[in-house]
Amino acid sequence: MHVIFATQNPNKVLEIQNQVGELHTIQSLLDLNYLEELEETQDTLQGNALQKARFVYQKFGKACFADDTGLEIESLNGEPGVYSARYGGPEKSFDKNMDSVLSKLHGKMNRKAQFRTVIALIDENGKEHLFEGICKGEILEKKVGKGGFGYDPIFQPESYQETFAELSLEVKNKISHRGLAVSKLIQFLNA
Ligand code: IMP
Repeated sequence: MHVIFATQNPNKVLEIQNQVGELHTIQSLLDLNYLEELEETQDTLQGNALQKARFVYQKFGKACFADDTGLEIESLNGEPGVYSARYGGPEKSFDKNMDSVLSKLHGKMNRKAQFRTVIALIDENGKEHLFEGICKGEILEKKVGKGGFGYDPIFQPESYQETFAELSLEVKNKISHRGLAVSKLIQFLNA
């Protein structure tokens, strides 16, 4: 099956194509030469994933999916959530985003958090399907580790003594929010 992944991030495409294997071909927006930024103006992860998938389905008329991810911190009432990319300001700096989280959590005992990914798939008949992946863990008091991206240096997944920024990509993909959501998508495509 041919499916469009509504993203311009080549790392995400590579990651997914690896998990999917040869049964399905994933085309990104880069493959289709579509370079304009997709709108994400909804106030939920599900809303944003659906907004991007619907836009691409209408534009190209083919099966497609889109994802949206947020870091949800219990004692911040689920923030930064859907605003994870720009929590420290409009420039979308990973460091500023983490600094903002660390200062808001200063002195708080409850540091429980989870990453949540929602994938919205629109099949070739226009029917919509949602898949969710959650990875639970906690926010450390400072940044640890050099790998990964985003909030990885301050997020330690449950049952691990390392942050996402210290774990190998292989381990991270196995236990991560995005990895779990993608597994559900693949199970569905293979059924
Ligand atoms: P996106 O929906 O995948 O673009 O993710 C939105 C924001 O969430 C990113 O800009 C990152 O700040 C954060 N994020 C998403 N996935 C991860 C991850 O696996 N580790 C750390 N931060 C992430």
